Amino acid sequence: MPTLDFKGKAHIYAHHLVVPWSPLVPHPDRSIGTGDIDDNLIIHGDNLHALKALLPRYAGRVKCIYIDPPYNTGNEGWVYNDNGNSPALQHWLSENGPVDGEDLERHDKWLTMMWPRLQLLRQLLSDDGVIFVSIDDNEVHHLRMMMDEIFGEENFFVTQVRRAMHTVRNSSKDFNLNADYVVSYAKDKSWFGESSERYIRYISDKTARYPRDDHDGKGSYKLDPLHARNYFEPYTHVFENGVEWSAPSGSYPRYSCQRLQEMEAAGEIEFGGTEPRAKRYLKDVQAGQPPDALLDPGIVRFNATGTTLLRTIFGVGGVFPQPKPVELIQYLIELLQDPQAVVLDSFAGSGTTGHAVLALNKQDGGNRRFIMVECEDYADEITAERIRRVIAGVDGARDESLQEGLGGGFTYCTLGERTSGDGMLSGESLPTYDDLAAWLVHSATGLSVGTDELAPRDEHGLIYSDDSCDYYLIYRPDIEWLQTNESVLTAPRAEAIGALCSERGRRAVVFATARYIPQDELKDLRVMFAQLPFAVAEIEEA
Ligand SMILES: C[S@@+](CC[C@H](N)C(=O)[O-])C[C@H]1O[C@@H](n2cnc3c(N)ncnc32)[C@H](O)[C@@H]1O
Repeated sequence: MPTLDFKGKAHIYAHHLVVPWSPLVPHPDRSIGTGDIDDNLIIHGDNLHALKALLPRYAGRVKCIYIDPPYNTGNEGWVYNDNGNSPALQHWLSENGPVDGEDLERHDKWLTMMWPRLQLLRQLLSDDGVIFVSIDDNEVHHLRMMMDEIFGEENFFVTQVRRAMHTVRNSSKDFNLNADYVVSYAKDKSWFGESSERYIRYISDKTARYPRDDHDGKGSYKLDPLHARNYFEPYTHVFENGVEWSAPSGSYPRYSCQRLQEMEAAGEIEFGGTEPRAKRYLKDVQAGQPPDALLDPGIVRFNATGTTLLRTIFGVGGVFPQPKPVELIQYLIELLQDPQAVVLDSFAGSGTTGHAVLALNKQDGGNRRFIMVECEDYADEITAERIRRVIAGVDGARDESLQEGLGGGFTYCTLGERTSGDGMLSGESLPTYDDLAAWLVHSATGLSVGTDELAPRDEHGLIYSDDSCDYYLIYRPDIEWLQTNESVLTAPRAEAIGALCSERGRRAVVFATARYIPQDELKDLRVMFAQLPFAVAEIEEA
């Protein structure tokens, strides 16, 4: 397979492995809800470090990634500033200002910036996950080649073309540059398609949009309003059960009076909510069409829709340049038909992805979660503020559910001190017990664990068990305690752990500051000792 070479590639090739790990620090005062790390997340920080911070909890668990990185038009003024270990890279960076159209190395810098991020994003994707990337002609050809290399060309789905605007773009010379693209890859495409039992209609099946079922043989359905933009002349209908209904002002009845009577008799009207609604059955809609490579502006809208919506949400214009339409991201998320999906956007901007997730959940009762990362200072004032507003409700919004508020919550996080051997030795950066446990388990096994999946701490500090090995952590985030014998793997402790190992036919790894037992005795006990904080430093440099 031909591969793409670019200045910086040799230095950045394995950079994702050595990016130091920092814990996520929740800020309950800027969050809505419990401030829990397992809720929706908005992370303020560089996504290179944020993606690394997410690995212990989310490696292999993200179902859908949507990113909208700088297109590298030469006008955005983005800065390449990843401080890799290589002196050549540091020299390159020392010359760096914003990447503009005059910069002859702007493509190299963009690729060097994207490479480690795409590597980390791939680690976060679940086996049946999909990544969508918005891009335009400036980098689409480079991106495709780079993604072929990182994700495998066999996992490429499609480059969908989107008409971004209905007018002529000002900067157009020969052609009207009014389109951009969404490039999509699976982590492993064999999960999809005809031969897969589980995902046979995965991309095209609409089941998840029809979450209700009365178990009356009619199958699953969703609830739709009885009104529409332009169908029947307005009338007032009185249902058999006495409920009176007419279309809200500005809209029209979707059904005739007679059809409403028939639907009521057939039990196809739901009276439970604030107004009667129609049950729309999956069996009555056309399902299973593969999505089109040409995105339909009727569904995914033009950029102007995103701009207008943001103006409505903030009550003023110019808050953020060219936010994507919510409908575009909703459409992409819906292709996966997974109402439980974790959706990640590491170039969050105005927070459109989080908005799309909350809107879809409200629409179909789903339980999707979002994780967004934004490095600029507006992560709080724009990205998170938009989500606060759409959760609470937006006056004047055209969409009724947005007016009323999408509900939900999120936890606002920053990145804590980078965990390093030195920081732990001096006591300057001591991660919490759970954070360190999750990081060590991830580093040792490549797996991600939620707090609830860490073993309940027993007297010896068991944190995790896999098929053949138990992992123990003897630690407290307290420098004085770490300097006492309590933090040491002593002979009696090692023997107790060894006894459990031989009873269960397993091995053990114990992370602790020191051991007071010879190495050969540990070996006989089937116990391996990993010294803190050096084990952390070794993992960093691995
Ligand atoms: C094109 S905008 C995304 C717009 C977004 N899709 C929307 O609808 O609002 C790209 C965003 O990525 C952010 N960004 C660029 N580099 C980043 C990095 N290294 N880490 C985190 N965010 C980054 C920029 O600050 C910008 O807000």
